[in-house]
Amino acid sequence: MDKTWWKESVVYQIYPRSFCDSNGDGIGDLKGITGKLDYLKELGVDVIWLSPVYESPNDDNGYDISDYQAIMKDFGTMEDFDRMLSQIHERGMKLVMDLVVNHTSDEHPWFVESRKGKENPYRDYYIWKDPVKGGAPNNWGSCFGGSAWEKDEKSGEYYLHLFSVKQPDLNWENEAVRREVYRMMNWWLDKGVDGFRMDVISLISKDPAYPDGPAGLNSYAAFNFCANGPRVHEFLQEMRREVLDGRDTLTVGECSGVTLEEALKYASLDGKELNMVFQFEHMDLDFDENGNKWTDRKCKLSQLKEILSRWQAGLYKKAWNSLFWCNHDQPRVVSRLGNDSAQYREVSAKMLAVCSHMMQGTPYIYQGEELGMTNAPFADISDFRDLDSINAYRELTEKGIFSREEMLGYLRYKSRDNARTPMQWEDSENAGFSTGKPWIMVNPNYHEINAKEQVGREDSVFSFYKELVALRKERPIIVYGDYRLLEPESEELFIYERGLEKERLLVACNFTGKELAWELPEEMKGRRPELVIANYPDAQWADTLMLRAYEAVVWEWTLD
Ligand code: GLC
Ligand code: CA
Repeated sequence: MDKTWWKESVVYQIYPRSFCDSNGDGIGDLKGITGKLDYLKELGVDVIWLSPVYESPNDDNGYDISDYQAIMKDFGTMEDFDRMLSQIHERGMKLVMDLVVNHTSDEHPWFVESRKGKENPYRDYYIWKDPVKGGAPNNWGSCFGGSAWEKDEKSGEYYLHLFSVKQPDLNWENEAVRREVYRMMNWWLDKGVDGFRMDVISLISKDPAYPDGPAGLNSYAAFNFCANGPRVHEFLQEMRREVLDGRDTLTVGECSGVTLEEALKYASLDGKELNMVFQFEHMDLDFDENGNKWTDRKCKLSQLKEILSRWQAGLYKKAWNSLFWCNHDQPRVVSRLGNDSAQYREVSAKMLAVCSHMMQGTPYIYQGEELGMTNAPFADISDFRDLDSINAYRELTEKGIFSREEMLGYLRYKSRDNARTPMQWEDSENAGFSTGKPWIMVNPNYHEINAKEQVGREDSVFSFYKELVALRKERPIIVYGDYRLLEPESEELFIYERGLEKERLLVACNFTGKELAWELPEEMKGRRPELVIANYPDAQWADTLMLRAYEAVVWEWTLD
């Protein structure tokens, strides 16, 4: 397999609104990020993925863009951006921008024109349809609740918005739209950015028949139904030719609804489309049987292993994957799959890190994950800022599907705002994030959980992530080795082996709060492996491995 820097890199995601506020207005900004680059260098990450910083009315916190080539005032100026970029490069790191081109804001000049009428030259930049039987053109639901179609009273037509009404979908069938997107991408690359994370890129090509989905199609099901449309690969190959060919970039597609078969096309190692994908099967495991995320269901470990292992094996030597537990749309992993009690928070956060970072693919760390940040104790609906959470609360309590208390419980567990509380820098007012009133509540546990306390402490979650990031640079087997799952049926242990020529790695993770014994397979007995990393200070090798609460160990040996 060809060696490339993006296979060997670790990416760190910054959600700018919540990272660091330099001017006391309560909103994180570019100068704030620039001031924290040494922290990221210390962690050892290679690439920063920056969530959107473009001009936006902020209906969906910047994922609704009204000008692709301007910086949102809240975040600073283009000069601030240029300075940040050169400071990132000066430290030998790279910057990947968020590319949100499935939709724009309804305040983007293209849509302002488009909505003026059927004859407007920009009409065809978006997806407009006549009513069907006096109603919406089909039964697709928006990801943020309600129908995906909004009626325009003036023309009587509907426009499509797979996300909020303020996020109309662009019409990728229109060549002029594609040319505009490629021109804009080239402009950013010419400026020196190093690649793109492509927002819901699997949704850009729609079935021209706009067929109804299965009855009662809800928002997330609609998503999967619309994904991987007929021309998506053609469009991405065109983008490769028009923008990416001849440039050394990192491209990762957020591919909601992607199947393994499709991923082999999106992220094929032949380099025709993207470098890698984000798939979400493992993130949807704690949804209910109808694909709704508002439930307190827990995911089953055997299923988690089945999914991750299928992706490990299925892409090996053919395509490239990304590894992640967290991003700005997911609750905090230590609260979701680990144990965020005082006793087990650190050890389970480290265990989860081992489990993901030792697999094949490019690991992504979401801000605060490297500190073991947890979900937040939101007390009331007024504490939430995320439109997805607020819309769902309103819709589901009004329809009487859940009581207010029930729904609050689900939000505390699953809301995207759990990831969006401010980064916890130190044990001072507002966790050192801002001297003003933060736009969203700070998690009160910043007194115990903060960067300042962890950076120099040898056994902190931060130091552990730092070690994992460094290991990837030292051991090619982590990047290029194959993968084999052991004990697929266990609901308590996640154990796998990696192999590269004669090298072997054994990765064993205990997902429970109990001590468990695991007898080694015969071929491993009697070996004298080297300990690679562990989250307890005194891990022991034996024919029967004893794995304490949330213990994770990695051993390495060479075959004779
Ligand atoms: C992606 C983003 C999410 C956003 C949505 C619409 O899923 O990650 O934050 O709300 O797309 O742009
Ligand atoms: Ca600010």
